[in-house]
Amino acid sequence: MKYLLAFVSFLYYCQNVIKCQQNATNVKIDVYYETLCPDSIQFIRQKLYPTFGKIGEIMDINLIPYGKAEHTQYREDVEIYCHHGSKECEGNTIQSCAIKYLDNNMTIVLPFVNCMENRFYGRYRPHISTIANECAITHGINYTQIQSCSASLEGKRLHIKNGERTQRLSPKLTFVPWVVINDAFTETDQNVALYGDFKTLVCDKYQGKTPPNSCNS
Ligand SMILES: *[C@@H]1O[C@H](CO)[C@@H](O)[C@H](O)[C@H]1NC(C)=O
Ligand SMILES: *[C@@H]1O[C@H](CO)[C@@H](O)[C@H](O)[C@H]1NC(C)=O
Ligand SMILES: *[C@@H]1O[C@H](CO)[C@@H](O)[C@H](O)[C@H]1NC(C)=O
Repeated sequence: MKYLLAFVSFLYYCQNVIKCQQNATNVKIDVYYETLCPDSIQFIRQKLYPTFGKIGEIMDINLIPYGKAEHTQYREDVEIYCHHGSKECEGNTIQSCAIKYLDNNMTIVLPFVNCMENRFYGRYRPHISTIANECAITHGINYTQIQSCSASLEGKRLHIKNGERTQRLSPKLTFVPWVVINDAFTETDQNVALYGDFKTLVCDKYQGKTPPNSCNS
């Protein structure tokens, strides 16, 4: 009975969480961010993406674009107000759809997200959908489903789901990006992630037997 339960819950985990692609010993990194937030752009370009390039095999990354947005029921509809305006909502929605349609596979998602954030860097009002489309082409991603998702209610629902997840955070998010490692937020991890040696932080949190060689260099 015990084994059966364990097996059933394993199956449940596999089907519902991340399709069995993530390792139990890996470092879980949840990034709550906003697509047009300068600090988020900086974290993705300078910390998350380069670190993934070095020790990606021990990182289980979850991207949650929403941040300090707000959503409220308005008659039949839900209105979302993003921290950096409607263009940010567009960016958040496109990335929410990309995460879904690229099966949360960070080997594909992260170069795409990083490409978008690179193009947003230092720009006041970037043309979001053009940039997304160009980044998809650059990275050999079929943009059809991401496009139709982000232009429909499906994209909005995914964005709202990210909002609900963000609002369930404990402690509550007070800064963006907000980096939660192995399901526990600490000020120290947050500060090291954003301003310190993120790679060493991730290597230190790794529970597996053999850390990748890049952890030692
Ligand atoms: C993720 O994508 C890469 C690149 O296409 C592929 O090699 C890898 O098998 C994918 N991972 C999973 C778990 O599907
Ligand atoms: C899981 O960990 C093993 C052993 O470190 C590694 O060979 C494998 O590539 C990892 N799988 C993924 C999806 O990261
Ligand atoms: C892109 O995906 C769509 C929908 O899944 C499919 O119909 C189309 O053939 C794909 N295009 C390419 C170039 O693979």
